[in-house]
Amino acid sequence: MRIIKSPAKMHEICRSFSAKGKTIGFVPTMGYLHQGHVSLLEKARKENDIVILSIYVNPTQFGPKEDLKKYPRDIGNDKKLAKRSKTDIIFIPSDKDMYPQGYGTFVDVGSVTNNLCGISRPGHFKGVATIVTKLFNIVIPNIAYFGQKDVQQCAVIKKLVSELNMFVKIKVLPIKRENDGLAISSRNVYLSEKEREDSRILCSALYYAKKSVKHGQRSSDKIIAKAKKMILSKRSAKIDYVKIVSQDTMKDIDKVEKKAVMAIAVFIGKTRLIDNIVLG
Ligand code: PAF
Repeated sequence: MRIIKSPAKMHEICRSFSAKGKTIGFVPTMGYLHQGHVSLLEKARKENDIVILSIYVNPTQFGPKEDLKKYPRDIGNDKKLAKRSKTDIIFIPSDKDMYPQGYGTFVDVGSVTNNLCGISRPGHFKGVATIVTKLFNIVIPNIAYFGQKDVQQCAVIKKLVSELNMFVKIKVLPIKRENDGLAISSRNVYLSEKEREDSRILCSALYYAKKSVKHGQRSSDKIIAKAKKMILSKRSAKIDYVKIVSQDTMKDIDKVEKKAVMAIAVFIGKTRLIDNIVLG
């Protein structure tokens, strides 16, 4: 497993793989790898000749009051998990290389960012779309792998590659959960023991929503009202949003239909957790 830091070097290596007809599977991450990332790497390993993982905590997707500085990092463990998943190359660029002094080019994918996390985290998806564009330009992957947990990010990236004519296939893999249902996330380490226990309410609310759709409920308002009540039964919980949206457009929908997804963002104490479930 090689570690490459220079974007130019990384690109040169990727071009030579492509010239030899080798397919590149790419897993972009911000590090602090967990089983969710491992599932992406394993899938990439099965489907490609070469597997590239990027680790870069992208400053432009964090707001001024967000946790950029204290975002968890453990490069030693990341390398261990990457190696175990048979990753060929880890790309670890620096801030200086990604955003040199005077940097000014940003990618804005439009209306798909106008709801959910796009409201609570202004500028976040501009940062994501920008860094993903840059990484795709460097790595020129055939397939890139993302987790369904960041459902709006997946919609943003699909729109990005389609509208900017990038010939990268986007694969979205299911959410990995702890045994008690909590979606696995790098931010779960921030939770105290009690908060960790309370955080189970997120997936309970989502499972409730799924079950009620199964039993014939189609009214988004009714499902959302009950889910909110469940979440607020935990004193540490503060709702950012609980919404039912179309998986492609991220716009609110009144009646649950084929592409409906329930997406939630909840502060448990100071930790903001997101999760979602496909209802349609
Ligand atoms: O999902 C993430 O870890 C990040 O948003 C991504 C896609 C690596 C861009 O920084």
